[in-house]
Amino acid sequence: MNTDRSRWTLAPLTLALFVATSAHAGQDIDDRIQASQSAIQSFAAALQGEMMAGMEAGGPVGAIDVCRERAPEIAAEISAETGWEVGRTSLKLRNPDNAPDEWERAILEDFDSRRAEGTPAAELHHHEIVEDGDEKTFRFMRAIPTAGLCLTCHGEVGGDIQHALERLYPEDQATGYSEGDVRGAFTIIQRM
Ligand code: HEC
Repeated sequence: MNTDRSRWTLAPLTLALFVATSAHAGQDIDDRIQASQSAIQSFAAALQGEMMAGMEAGGPVGAIDVCRERAPEIAAEISAETGWEVGRTSLKLRNPDNAPDEWERAILEDFDSRRAEGTPAAELHHHEIVEDGDEKTFRFMRAIPTAGLCLTCHGEVGGDIQHALERLYPEDQATGYSEGDVRGAFTIIQRM
């Protein structure tokens, strides 16, 4: 292949991309939303994979240890990969490290009221550019629906599971959920 020729074919392409991007002001935001969704997808898939493996190896009580150890690690790994802050939060916490900030709390409350009005939890998400002094961030949240599988540790728990949770999380609030409830949300902060 002739290198001269490929240089000449690339130049108009680069220009075309530049024009296309600047012509659509919303493009950047759409990209950020898509990239956030895909980071969340990786987070959810990794967590679910490890939790299922934990269940198979050590039953629900063993899986509690997996969630406890791996959930924060996976969040840290994805944050390092993307350069964003990626995590999970909720209005009723198990791990106090996951506490929402003021902005996240308001969005979680909004998700709960939209859910109560009939929107399925799986459809709830929100993005916003938040300016605070000199700092401008793109923030994204996506609700986490409570599935049947989650009720083992977030529904009406008893027995060994209850004991393990009481020991590890003395202030646990994250029980009593029903299928379809908003359990919490994935949350992403991208500095702009
Ligand atoms: C085997 C028990 C177990 C199962 C099953 C389980 N979780 Fe959890 N969950 C935990 C533990 C333990 C934590 C605390 C993790 C930590 O310390 O960061 C947690 C934390 C969370 C959090 C973070 C917010 C908080 O309260 O700290 C969310 C959100 C969450 N779980 C959602 C789910 C969803 C959705 C499912 C079902 C797909 C699920 N969990 C299934 C044990 C479980």
